[in-house]
Amino acid sequence: MNYKNILLEIKNNTAILTINRPDKLNALNSGTMDELEKAFIELETNEEVRTVVLTGSGEKAFVAGADISEINKLDMINGKEFAERGQRIFNLIENFNKPVIAAVNGFALGGGCELALSCHIRIASENAKFGQPEVNLGIIPGYGGTQRLTRLINSGRAMEYILTGDLIDANEALRIGLISKVYPQIELLNKAIEMANKIGLKAGHAVTEAIKAVKIADQVSAREGQIYEASLFAICCGTEDFKEGTSAFLEKRKANFKNK
Ligand code: COA
Repeated sequence: MNYKNILLEIKNNTAILTINRPDKLNALNSGTMDELEKAFIELETNEEVRTVVLTGSGEKAFVAGADISEINKLDMINGKEFAERGQRIFNLIENFNKPVIAAVNGFALGGGCELALSCHIRIASENAKFGQPEVNLGIIPGYGGTQRLTRLINSGRAMEYILTGDLIDANEALRIGLISKVYPQIELLNKAIEMANKIGLKAGHAVTEAIKAVKIADQVSAREGQIYEASLFAICCGTEDFKEGTSAFLEKRKANFKNK
């Protein structure tokens, strides 16, 4: 599949998906959103791909938001459709069956911050800046940001950032748990790929079930989450990789997972 606004490269079982509109700081116009959705649908069933790294082109921005020239034309009818479409695409990423790592290489603002929030793991470069500055445009985050940011960094902090539109630098993002690692920009992509490759060597089913188990913690009570966890644990016990992983340990050898 040929894309215009994204680059897609598959290396050693890791897909590197780069939003590629550097002259617009990788702002998400509707064409880019379409391509993002198509790419994730394509990657979901691509057996060669075990992990995804999502990043932005250039040294300045991950994604500087939804494209404001398109937002400017919205009204109350298509505004709802606009938000729901973005939510659907970011939900696809959040519920993706393989790990998605955001390598945030600069501005992650508005829809860009929401895109990073929908990924399973976020790491960033020292120059990264996060924020939900939508109030400055007369709108609120509409791609799931009010919900995901609140769950991730707590309601008081999320409220402050969403109401003030203040930007969050990489060190503060690390301190409040918005990201899990910070690296010099020149190292960021390789560190993300390294992490992806490391996860790619684990038992694929266990990784997929672990994502589901962790993600549901935001949605249900602890008891319901544990019931779900036990079912997912049971599914893992039915896989060949589970036999291989446990046998390899007992036989004091390295496991050779087949993702079966
Ligand atoms: N939508 C559309 N275009 C955008 C954009 C966005 N979200 N963010 C940046 N761009 C464009 C600019 O219009 C400019 O295009 P031009 O060269 O054709 O004029 C280009 O990207 C470079 O941006 P510029 O503003 O000149 O860079 P800067 O270094 O001075 O400022 C930012 C960087 C990120 C602070 C600034 O671009 C900005 O505030 N962007 C909007 C952030 C935002 O509100 N996002 C939420 C949207 S919901």
